[in-house]
Amino acid sequence: MLLSEQAYKKIDREVAKFPVEQKQSAVMAALAIAQDEAGWLSPELIADIAGYLDMPAIAVQEVATFYVMYNTAPVGKFKITVCTNLPCALSGGEKAAQYLKQKLGIDYRETTADGQFTLMEGECMGACGDAPVMLVNNKRMCSWMSNEKIDGLVEELKK
Ligand code: FES
Repeated sequence: MLLSEQAYKKIDREVAKFPVEQKQSAVMAALAIAQDEAGWLSPELIADIAGYLDMPAIAVQEVATFYVMYNTAPVGKFKITVCTNLPCALSGGEKAAQYLKQKLGIDYRETTADGQFTLMEGECMGACGDAPVMLVNNKRMCSWMSNEKIDGLVEELKK
């Protein structure tokens, strides 16, 4: 048991949404709950979730590594994911990512030395008309990210 009692209770609530013999259907929700608490999904945590849902660890690992929103390595306090899929790439997404890379001094999948920021490349976030778009810690969507807005976001997060 690597998570808090509260986290397992939340997972139980997700499991209860499916027939008893289908508890593995809650795997994505369980991983999200685990990541929210632990920050990232270590092999030990993945094995723990697998045991909890009666699944082979490799099956949980496959889910965790397929979706970019799951962190299978430690990340900084703020993970900024930039959408660079085609519609965004054509509307400034690549340029915004380049600006952010220079500003933070890191490349994709890297974390700043102070542990504050991790930069990731993301898939379509369903907000193509708002490009460039970025997601902070998988939950906060930032739209129309001009260089000025990127400066403001980084300053705000640093505080
Ligand atoms: Fe970036 Fe859709 S392509 S949000």
